[in-house]
Amino acid sequence: MKELVARSLKFQHGVVYVLDQYLLPHKEVWHECRSVEQMAELILTLKVRGAPLIGLAATLLVAYLAEQGATKHELASAIDDLEATRPTAVNLMHCMAKLRRALKESQWADAIVTSAESLFEEDVALCERMANFGAELVKEGDNVLTHCNTGALATAGIGTALGVIHQAHVANKGIHVWVDETRPLLQGGRLTAYELASWSIPYTLICDNMAASLMAAGKVDKVFVGADRIAANGDFANKVGTYNLAVLAKHHNIPFYVVAPITTLDEACPHGKAIPIEERNPKEVTGVSGSFGSCQWAPNDANVFNPAFDVTPAELVTGWVLDTGVYDGAAVAGGVFTRLR
Ligand code: MRU
Repeated sequence: MKELVARSLKFQHGVVYVLDQYLLPHKEVWHECRSVEQMAELILTLKVRGAPLIGLAATLLVAYLAEQGATKHELASAIDDLEATRPTAVNLMHCMAKLRRALKESQWADAIVTSAESLFEEDVALCERMANFGAELVKEGDNVLTHCNTGALATAGIGTALGVIHQAHVANKGIHVWVDETRPLLQGGRLTAYELASWSIPYTLICDNMAASLMAAGKVDKVFVGADRIAANGDFANKVGTYNLAVLAKHHNIPFYVVAPITTLDEACPHGKAIPIEERNPKEVTGVSGSFGSCQWAPNDANVFNPAFDVTPAELVTGWVLDTGVYDGAAVAGGVFTRLR
């Protein structure tokens, strides 16, 4: 397979490497990955994360195994095992479905490798298209708010919602970004702040529960978030806390945009209630851990509920920024998503 290099994932010298996102921003550690077990562990522990990136990391690993001479049966079970790691982001299922189709071809090992290359390169192009469409929505001097991490760390390209923000900055729109820290795993505080700083984009980090008063004070002009799965009716799942923001934005009359590539659309999923929501380890809520060490503040026997995502109903969305353009509620109700896929 050819060399493929992204900000946090690469295929080089015939091996898959992933940047450990759990250790960022204080340590940059790359893991060499050669087995399904290793990749599954990296995905489960969110060392590799972000909807498009999870799919691509799993894909590169399957392509690596194909190049190493794995049998058809071994590749099929690698695809099944990797697909089962995280249930909400549909990009993973999209990638694994493409690899399953490749496995049916007569030259299946070559087909797996070609599919992996095209999925990776397609993501770069999709990001660029979303960024261009989304940046058109941003006005001079806008204060935009974002949640979780949706940048170059989470994709093979420049990102989804953060790609839009990057493009608006490159177009000299003089923007400022409010960054939700994004409890419980702090993807905003750790990763989005790190990426914005690396791009010299002015930002201010806030705790998630500060967004309401900022909106009430007129300090937020627009909200841009990513998505892990968009249902056929436009409802979408994204990092827990996104729904809160959508409700707040509606109340304060602030435009709320979701930015995602076509690989995040799930036409087989009729509405948000049908999206499977991952529940994670209670320890992520009872304390924190990272490159700085770990601590626990809650009692040892605390009852915890820890859904990694929530679902935002379509009626709260001002526009869906896809790689094919920006769509409003009327377009979505008219079945545009079904036609796109
Ligand atoms: O649990 P994570 O960190 O993988 O969740 C990531 C998100 O929710 C992102 O907003 C989403 O994947 C879109 S990223 C391009």
